[in-house]
Amino acid sequence: MTPEEKKQQVAKAALEHVVPGTIIGVGTGSTANCFIDELAGIKGKIDGTVASSEASAERLRGHGIPVFDLNAVDAISVYIDGADESNHHLHLVKGGGGALTREKIVAAASDRFVCIADDSKLVDTLGAFPLPIEVIPMARSYVAREIVKLGGQPVLREGFTTDNGNIILDVHHWQIEEPVKIETQLNQIVGVVTNGLFAADPADILLLGSDNGVKVVE
Ligand code: 5RP
Repeated sequence: MTPEEKKQQVAKAALEHVVPGTIIGVGTGSTANCFIDELAGIKGKIDGTVASSEASAERLRGHGIPVFDLNAVDAISVYIDGADESNHHLHLVKGGGGALTREKIVAAASDRFVCIADDSKLVDTLGAFPLPIEVIPMARSYVAREIVKLGGQPVLREGFTTDNGNIILDVHHWQIEEPVKIETQLNQIVGVVTNGLFAADPADILLLGSDNGVKVVE
């Protein structure tokens, strides 16, 4: 199977985790896009969605699926989104698409986080994929120096502005052995809006598309 076929396979499997008659949180990226296209087939069964990016909101609306502002909803039953990497504890690296802040907010506001990915995303140690960090623009140099002190090599994502008007630093060459500790340390740096580690509050279940069917890690 190609990576694209695996994403479609896992997006279909994620439909089983959609709770009828509730609001669903929807992520961002190519795997989340496959899920949005699948969700269109059962849109009458849900009350609507909260999206983690303008791009996903636009795709959802294109299918005639209602999209609500997070502040307008009381509860989100489940958040369904992809990841750039997951370890076996379901600690994730996210933000390859630059939507990490809204992703973390919608995930936090949801009862359950179902992560969907092709099986190449499961790793023993996080960090081969550069860790995205959303930063207030005026703090860019300061935050970069602080990250170097922690052992990372930050690189500005050129020509990219987040939906929140901020920049992204991608941190290269970092073997993240203690994801919860690093997530906390990064959050302490003034000027950091969000870092792409989802470790203190990991996914609840990981569905992996593979040649041998959907694998479940939980
Ligand atoms: C976007 C994300 C995505 O979930 C992550 O980049 C995975 O994307 P894809 O499904 O295209 O591999 O965090 O900010």
